[in-house]
Amino acid sequence: MNQVTSRTLREMKEKGEKFTSLTVYDYSFAALVDSAGIDVALVGDSLGMVIQGHQSTLPVTLDEMIYHTSCVANGVDRALLVADLPFGAYQVSPEEAYESSVELIKFGGAHMVKLEGGGAMVEVVDFLSERGIHVCAHLGLTPQYVHQLGGYRVQGREEEEAKQLIEGALALEKAGAGLLVLEAVPSGLAAQITSGLSIPTLGIGAGGETDGQVLVLHDLLGIYPDNTPRFAKNFMTGADSVEGAIKAYIKAVKSGLFPAPEHSFD
Ligand code: KIV
Repeated sequence: MNQVTSRTLREMKEKGEKFTSLTVYDYSFAALVDSAGIDVALVGDSLGMVIQGHQSTLPVTLDEMIYHTSCVANGVDRALLVADLPFGAYQVSPEEAYESSVELIKFGGAHMVKLEGGGAMVEVVDFLSERGIHVCAHLGLTPQYVHQLGGYRVQGREEEEAKQLIEGALALEKAGAGLLVLEAVPSGLAAQITSGLSIPTLGIGAGGETDGQVLVLHDLLGIYPDNTPRFAKNFMTGADSVEGAIKAYIKAVKSGLFPAPEHSFD
């Protein structure tokens, strides 16, 4: 079984082949997600909400991210393993981001680290990339900025905001990011950003034109008890097992059936 790397994802982008990602937080689900054929296993700081029951991702600590990443690393053979740098573990300086990333890689087993934001993060991505750390950037609805954004809202609907997102994406690519998550942005804008980059984009609530799709595992399973975003879909409906639901998600993404217009924003 060939290990998925960011090079694999880039080749898939070039061929117009969609790739798939799910968040995952423990060993058993990691093994299941991996054997079902998910390309990118994301240990998201969404664990603060779906695992720990907080109202946001802000309370998650670096130690918790390392713990969950190491559990997932034990179950993953094929997928690219991406882990979130949590709020407060990378914003002070590129050096702080480097130290936190090293811990996620050394003790968690992550292949790539993810951080949120453009602007000041461009310098951080450059610093990390220059030192051999593979970075996934995250633009649009960046949950670590929830208070500044005024809630979990679609981003890039205004012309100025859209322009900032396009410029941010190009700057992050130039700085060395290998993958870009686009969350809750209008489909047309996500398509424009995707076609303007040579690195792959991974969309959630960003329409069907991004190079890959990511979903929060608990949304796919339909088990999160609080509000679920409009862009999520419960794939357990009609499936006879968890593995069946994951495979249905993969099939729907690869065939262009997910996300449908009702999971996207215009
Ligand atoms: O934390 C997370 O799960 C994420 C995804 C929603 C992209 O960042």
